[in-house]
Amino acid sequence: MSIVPEAAPGGHQEQDRSIPVRFALHPSITEAKIARLVERFYGEIRQDQRLGPIFDKRLAGRWELHLAKMQMFWQSVLLRNGAYKGKPLPAHLALKELVAGDYPAWLSIFRPVAFDVFGPQAGPLVVDCAERIAQNLQLASFFSASQSELTAVSAAHNSEVRDA
Ligand code: HEM
Repeated sequence: MSIVPEAAPGGHQEQDRSIPVRFALHPSITEAKIARLVERFYGEIRQDQRLGPIFDKRLAGRWELHLAKMQMFWQSVLLRNGAYKGKPLPAHLALKELVAGDYPAWLSIFRPVAFDVFGPQAGPLVVDCAERIAQNLQLASFFSASQSELTAVSAAHNSEVRDA
């Protein structure tokens, strides 16, 4: 999909140059960079002693399909092109072996790759998206296990959890 630069809605093009394209999170984000992100990130996470086996166990024989799906997912998030139609939450709820520290570990692998692929302008935006999604998945994954303890904070967090 080609991203045609457009003025931001509302006549803010002079003041707000951070959103000069209509759909992409940042104009420097391309499908090619997303493909590189996915290839490098999963190349690295597969080497991780803790997380690698969790992925390999689920994705044995269908890694290529997963990588293609993840390209579509990141296109949907970063280029907002609607390429991904799946539901991340049930896929992660099914991973019963996950512990709370796994999401921070996932992010610590994702961050340097994203900064390297997207550079200092778009890198922080990409990382910010990943952190928000990871937080939502993490809250949802561990919410039911400790529901009573979370009652006090649930109102504040529920809308984010629903959006995961
Ligand atoms: C502890 C961290 C994580 C682990 C261990 C993990 C593991 C997995 C695994 C094994 C799958 C494949 C499920 C299957 O097809 O059976 C998967 C799918 C997926 N993951 Fe993660 N994941 C983690 C965090 C994240 C985060 C933070 C994101 C987003 C920023 C994410 C996005 C996705 C998406 C979009 C899918 C595809 C779901 C679908 O439509 O089938 N994951 N993950």
